[in-house]
Amino acid sequence: MNTSVRLPDAAPDHGHPRKGENPASGRADHPAAPETGGPVFSGAGDGVETGMADITSLILDDHDWFRRQFAQLDDLTDPAELAEVWQPLADLLDVHARAEEEIFYPHLLRRGDDAKEETLDAIGDHNDIRDGVHEAALHPVGSTAWLDAVRKARMANSEHMAEEEDEGLADFRRHADPGLREELGRRFAEFKVAHEGARDLDVSDIDPEGYVEAELGTGVGDGSLGIGSLKERD
Ligand SMILES: [Fe+2]
Ligand SMILES: [Fe+2]
Repeated sequence: MNTSVRLPDAAPDHGHPRKGENPASGRADHPAAPETGGPVFSGAGDGVETGMADITSLILDDHDWFRRQFAQLDDLTDPAELAEVWQPLADLLDVHARAEEEIFYPHLLRRGDDAKEETLDAIGDHNDIRDGVHEAALHPVGSTAWLDAVRKARMANSEHMAEEEDEGLADFRRHADPGLREELGRRFAEFKVAHEGARDLDVSDIDPEGYVEAELGTGVGDGSLGIGSLKERD
């Protein structure tokens, strides 16, 4: 299945430029590294350079931003304005999910009390979110079909974030030492910079069972997730 459809009508290179301000300023930009205009990481300054940002805090930062951006869409009707908010949101939904799959869940699987179930649920949820995001890309921004797809992504994402925060993230905090959390935070931040705007990123769905099997059967946490090989099973 190829769900890697981008949002051509609203892509930054096609008339909907991404702004670069910090979300703390109230603008629509997504959390990223300072040089790309993202936020200062929570309580830790520049997490990319210092490595002092706990990955669970960085994930929460993104979640907060997602909620605010979806809320911002409620106040808009003009397609150009909707696209300006939606495109960076859609991009980061894709990047965030893949960053978690590449960096966070492999380590949760090794340490959490209920990690396998939490991971299976999360990957399935990520697929639901991706499906909504990519479905929206097929329709004119602001159309009924687009609004339905965005709502699908929003509902899936809201449900998923609550579960992830109360289950996977909580589980990981109880079992991962601070050094690992900071190291993964550094990698998470770097991943977001490297793939800002979902560039050079495969954003297609992955099979949850195949993902868990591959992670538990190989060197979990070695940074080589092998999502490409998982996709080839489809
Ligand atoms: Fe998340
Ligand atoms: Fe997630």
